[in-house]
Amino acid sequence: MEELLKKLIANGNLLFFHQIEEVIDQCEILFITVGTPSLPNGEADLSYVEEAARQIGRWMNEYKAIVIKSTVPVGTGDKINKIIKSELKKRNREISFDLISNPEFLREGKALQDALYPERIVIGCETEKAQKLMKDLYKEINAPILFTTIKDAEMIKYASNAFLATKISFINELARLCDKIGVNVIQVAKGMGLDSRIGPQFLQAGIGYGGSCFPKDIKALLALASAEKIPLQILQAVSDVNETQVQWFMEKVKRALGSLSGKRIAVLGLTFKPQTDDIREATSLKIIHYLIQNNSYITAYDPQGTEHVKKIYPTIHYVKTPLEALKEADAVIIVTDWKEIIEIDWQKAKNILSQPFVFDGRNCLNPSAMLKLGYHYEGVGTPSFDESN
Ligand code: UGA
Repeated sequence: MEELLKKLIANGNLLFFHQIEEVIDQCEILFITVGTPSLPNGEADLSYVEEAARQIGRWMNEYKAIVIKSTVPVGTGDKINKIIKSELKKRNREISFDLISNPEFLREGKALQDALYPERIVIGCETEKAQKLMKDLYKEINAPILFTTIKDAEMIKYASNAFLATKISFINELARLCDKIGVNVIQVAKGMGLDSRIGPQFLQAGIGYGGSCFPKDIKALLALASAEKIPLQILQAVSDVNETQVQWFMEKVKRALGSLSGKRIAVLGLTFKPQTDDIREATSLKIIHYLIQNNSYITAYDPQGTEHVKKIYPTIHYVKTPLEALKEADAVIIVTDWKEIIEIDWQKAKNILSQPFVFDGRNCLNPSAMLKLGYHYEGVGTPSFDESN
């Protein structure tokens, strides 16, 4: 990303402005990419999108294609349309514009790859002019373009994230049963995933999904459904399973250790997934909270997220290397599958630990290798490897 940015700036292909009116003036296509965080009632906070629209209406002087990239609830396009028209009316101006919905499907940590090689481009727009402009804009990208109405495009974004989260909660709930009855969920997911109608992705059982997208978007879709009095029962269950997955996992940890009180616990990984410093809705926060409630001593390690978590939990102990975290720990909890954590020398680690207990919340270690080294190892839905069960 850094390399590409430097190149674009040097070429003069990427320019930055202090004044929004300059950008609006110089560009025919304007992307709105601001955040839409959750409000306390689960609905998406549209104030930033609305402010961007007001600014556009205030400063545009000729035709603009206004593209909403932010994830917004179905029907937002209509609202934005009205805001821009009302700003133009205040100025006594009649300027034509097109409103376009072009949802983004980028993953954090893989944004550049996903932007350059997307699997699909979805464009919701109402005029031929807008269609042509957008087709032209994406002409270098080799991906199918689906043209829809604005509302359809808005829903495609929510439905996609909701379906991915459904796959995760499905396998996580199944993992709980697998754990109990001696079935290995990793093998189950592999067997299921070979069916191309199901596919192998997003079937990795763990301690639940986090991040700035899935939890927020699912809440927003549920809030919309509830307002429309069309309850989405499956999606509600997806959210409930995710909420209780950490509790289920931590009860497993507690059972194995007898009690958590006074125990030294190494928490490995704080970010919601590897390759990002993002701790929004990260499972680590729920785990730390649980451990504090149970009077444990916590030592936390993360390659990128430490500074952010420190602001929320200033009193726990933070270290710079995974091995430091393991020193004299009674148990290790793996929360994020960072390379640095997977590649720990577990043979060496055994001599540092006070007790060889490893709870792998991401199923990222090799269970039989851990057992051979003499660890008490537990993953998520991998009970056959846990001889104590
Ligand atoms: C997600 C979507 O994957 C993107 O397509 C979408 O554009 C983005 O949200 C968005 O709406 O902006 P992201 O939140 O970056 O992307 O992260 P994911 O890679 O999807 O992972 C989300 C969470 O699910 C992580 O906590 C991850 O650990 C968890 N996960 C993922 C599982 O527990 N199991 C899996 O099999 C896959």
